[in-house]
Amino acid sequence: MDDDDPGRRVAAQVAAGGGLDGLHRLSETIEALEERRTDLVEELRRGRQATWEEIGRACGMTRQGATRRWAGRLRARSFGLAATAYQHGRPGYPQALIGSAVPREARRVLDLGAGTGKLTGMLVEAGLDVVAVEPDPQMRDRLAAAVPKAAVRAGSAERIPLPDAGVDAVVVAQAWHWFDQATAVPEIARVLAPGGTLALIWNVRDETEPWAAELGALMHRSDRQRLDTAPELPAPFGAPERLEIRWEHPTTPAGVLDMVASRSYVIALPEADRARLLADVEQLLATHPDLAGRDEIAVPYVTRCTRVRLG
Ligand SMILES: C[S@@+](CC[C@H](N)C(=O)[O-])C[C@H]1O[C@@H](n2cnc3c(N)ncnc32)[C@H](O)[C@@H]1O
Repeated sequence: MDDDDPGRRVAAQVAAGGGLDGLHRLSETIEALEERRTDLVEELRRGRQATWEEIGRACGMTRQGATRRWAGRLRARSFGLAATAYQHGRPGYPQALIGSAVPREARRVLDLGAGTGKLTGMLVEAGLDVVAVEPDPQMRDRLAAAVPKAAVRAGSAERIPLPDAGVDAVVVAQAWHWFDQATAVPEIARVLAPGGTLALIWNVRDETEPWAAELGALMHRSDRQRLDTAPELPAPFGAPERLEIRWEHPTTPAGVLDMVASRSYVIALPEADRARLLADVEQLLATHPDLAGRDEIAVPYVTRCTRVRLG
């Protein structure tokens, strides 16, 4: 062994005498180190202190390798930076969704990637016993304040802080596309009781009205995240049941601006581009013949829900 290599030296110390105990200690240490590495990458990128090229080099990777490894994860972690705008601007969900997302016999429900609690509050009001898991501390603080009756826990879809078979239903609203699905699927199956259900939910803006199409064109000028809002789930989940609900979110011009400002790709834009986009949206709201002078705006949405049952 090369004793001058600090990594090998630490690994040998952690594994000590080896065996299953050593393997367990090594695995936990690798996970903690990986978590710390992601935090460091995040700090360096947010403070614009290093390029992807430099980060890749420091990690023994190419620039592409480093962006593939972390860029998505960093975006998934960006919501807390705009938690106030998120809470104010993002729509909730139509009441009719609850009966389809959660089966009638379910009592204990996990809201995974719960954000500021937009769906959590509705689940609590429906009389369910709700645990909300959210990795971002700023989103979690708002969630705990907004929905005090829910049990709020730090955690992620890849590592759910619940016992095996602990809930009857899991709901995931606007968050499935942020998960590492290969790890999340068995982890969700682990916490579900036999016959439990998983519901994946998205609010999609309905762009059939001309002003809504113009808003969409402005928002996606820099980036369009292609989402599969009717996904297929692998085993151990069974055949999907799908539902669509059309509805309108009543809001204000300021609410529309906050809805735009809380999108992950808008949070990630360089400041000048972000300011330009928000100014253009403000201009649309002030001048479009269907919107000008209005204090209230009804934003049309289609809520899509895919529900599967543990086989
Ligand atoms: C668009 S928000 C949706 C929040 C909430 N469910 C709602 O409907 O308003 C996505 C949320 O997923 C969370 N998230 C991102 N990656 C996650 C992961 N791997 N596991 C669990 N949640 C995650 C983010 O922190 C964020 O709060």
